[in-house]
Amino acid sequence: VDASGDQRIGFPHLHVRRCGSTNDLARALAARGAPHGTLVTADEQTAGRGRQGRSWTAPPGSSLLASFLLRPQRPPSGLFALAVALATAEACEELVPGLEVGVKWPNDLVVAGRKLAGILIEGRPQESWLVVGIGVNVTLRPEQLAPELVDRATSLALEAERLGRRVPVPSELATALCTTLARWTEPSGLERVTAVWPSRDVLAGHTVRWSSGSGIAEGIDEQGRLRVRVGEQEITLAAGEVHLGTG
Ligand code: BTN
Repeated sequence: VDASGDQRIGFPHLHVRRCGSTNDLARALAARGAPHGTLVTADEQTAGRGRQGRSWTAPPGSSLLASFLLRPQRPPSGLFALAVALATAEACEELVPGLEVGVKWPNDLVVAGRKLAGILIEGRPQESWLVVGIGVNVTLRPEQLAPELVDRATSLALEAERLGRRVPVPSELATALCTTLARWTEPSGLERVTAVWPSRDVLAGHTVRWSSGSGIAEGIDEQGRLRVRVGEQEITLAAGEVHLGTG
């Protein structure tokens, strides 16, 4: 992705109170020729989407709901999705000093085993657009969560309070993300993904399961695929092809 010149990430920025999905809004803008770097954010989504056909719900105003329209000059490699996760982790840590964000391949963000953020990348690089959708729990409180999620989710507010830090607001995170995303998605950023991933990788050494098997995660390869040991063999899994369960 070339974010050089006046094609800044996060400009123009459209913020809406409510929409179906910011990814859909960004896709509609892509079809109308919106430029590389366009950012769409919302206080509330009525049809937020997650990966693997899941829905993504968040109480109004509790999260950063952001979609970046990017127009890569060539189809991005498998490292791109991982770079977005690293950029998001870095932006969260900038806002809450002392926070340690882990990444769960391909691009979930977790803190001490609880999900902090999710990423949904959609698009047609051949038609020169990609939409990077990022949902981060910012001010979300446990009482706003469905009972089954209380032990599985966290937010920047909860982590900030635990660390005695100020609680950030979603717009601050959007600003920080514009900078970290630009850095991680440019060629020199993508080159650093395989070196930096292990320091945040929470799956390494753990059993992962997918529809047709299970094995021990051993990090990523140079194309961003998950390396898994299955008995004596090492295999690789590509994001999008498998749906992982852990444990
Ligand atoms: C996941 O963890 O499954 C990915 C969740 C991605 C959610 C974000 S919120 C902003 C953007 N708009 C959507 O409809 N989804 C993404």
